[in-house]
This record gives sequence, C-alpha cells and structure tokens, in this order.
Amino acid sequence: MADFRILHIDSSARRGVSGEQRHGSHSRRLTRRFVERWLAARPEDELVYRDVGGQPPSPVDHDWIAAAFTPPEARGADAKARLLESDRLTAELLAADLIVIGAPMYNFGVPAQLKAWIDNVVRVGLTFGFDRAREGEPYWPMLPEGKRLVILSARGDHGYDPGGRLEASNLVEAGIRVPMAYIGLTQSHGLAIEYDEFADQRLAGSIAAAEEGVDRLVDRLLAAG
Ligand SMILES: Cc1cc2nc3c(=O)[nH]c(=O)nc-3n(C[C@H](O)[C@H](O)[C@H](O)COP(=O)(O)O)c2cc1C
Repeated sequence: MADFRILHIDSSARRGVSGEQRHGSHSRRLTRRFVERWLAARPEDELVYRDVGGQPPSPVDHDWIAAAFTPPEARGADAKARLLESDRLTAELLAADLIVIGAPMYNFGVPAQLKAWIDNVVRVGLTFGFDRAREGEPYWPMLPEGKRLVILSARGDHGYDPGGRLEASNLVEAGIRVPMAYIGLTQSHGLAIEYDEFADQRLAGSIAAAEEGVDRLVDRLLAAG
C-alpha cells in the first residue's frame, strides 16, 4: 500500500469533461487537472476514484439508520448487509490523506448524489463519536488528523465567492465543509468556475483562472509537504 492516498470524487451528473465533450462537466475538468498534476509530481501516490455522479450511493433510509445506530456487535445479517456500501465508502475516506471533490452547484447546494455520499460517511462510531452521558460536548470527530480537503466547484451564475453578490446563497462549500469538519476534516481549500450559463468570454476567463488556480493550489500543497 502506498504511503499517501488520494480519494478523488466527482459528483456532476454530466459525463465527460468540458472542452472535450459537448455538455461536459467543468467540475470534472478541474478535479482531473488537479489529480493529473499531483500524480505527475508524485507518481508513487495511490489514487482511489469514486464517480458518485455516475453511480450515486444509495440514500440513507429507515433500515440504514436503524443499522448504523445499532452497536456493531448487535447487528444482524440484514443490518450488516445494509451498511456494506457505507462501510466501503467510509473506509475509503478513513484511508485517504487528500480528498478532492468535484462539486457542481445544483439549486444553490450540492447535488443529491454528493449529499448521499456525505450521509453515508458521517457514521456514528466510525467517523464521529456520540455519548449523551459525556461531560460537555457529546459529539467528537473521529477522523485521524492531518487529512486535507479540496473542493472544486462549478456554477452557472456568478458572484458566489466571499464578498460576491450571491455569497449568502452559496450552500455548496458549506454543505461539504461543515459535515466534514464535524467528523474531523478541518483543513480545506477550493475554487470554482463561474458563468457556465453565460457561455461567453466570461466563462472562458473563469475557466482559465480556475485552471491556473488549480495548478497553484497543487504546487502549494506539494510544497507544504
Ligand atoms: C439541476 C441544476 C441546478 C442548477 N442550479 C444552479 C444554481 O442554483 N445556481 C447556479 O449558479 N447554477 C446552477 N446550475 C448550473 C450549474 O451549476 C453549472 O452548469 C455547473 O457548470 C455544473 O457543474 P458541472 O459543469 O461540473 O456539471 C444548475 C444546473 C443544474 C443541472
């Protein structure tokens, strides 16, 4: 097993990458660029790829909740089976040192496919602890320290970054960062392509700036060690 593992997640419902395929995805374009640049510098690192946009995890339901909140030693065969997919996704997250997420904006938040992944990896007893009898804070994060999160987004409109005209409407980064920080993944970075719906020179400029931003971010993270 490699010393350093990258978990690359794409969540756009669009197949292919923009600039290559008609209707291709901008967020897939950015995550692919990030990972290719990283691996060019560190080919020995291990890459795990999850396309939750193409193959969405099943959303949590009654049986999932009942199983997850039953202590592992008391789970029957059905409960264990219901949690298998979540176990696998959670193990991938626990094993990763760097998590790179492509996150398009859908109706101001993350796609349902990505929310399903989040709901599957926020697991009591595995990624967060809960004890109502505990003094002070009854919840605690369980992810090992030192992991980093990179969120690469794409939006149709513009002005969603801090200070922008639509900052308050942007639930994408917070929708990922807040639950990830809750389980212990607190170091995050990110950037986005905007203006997809305008499809003019402003989109072209935003893509160029985001691609340059991805390259700088990779170089900065690599330099940080
Ligand atoms: C279902 C859906 C909802 C969307 N909602 C928003 C929105 O709320 N705000 C926005 O600026 N763009 C919105 N868009 C535009 C996307 O964010 C934009 O097309 C982006 O490039 C999608 O990411 P992708 O290129 O990786 O697929 C929406 C697109 C779709 C398909």
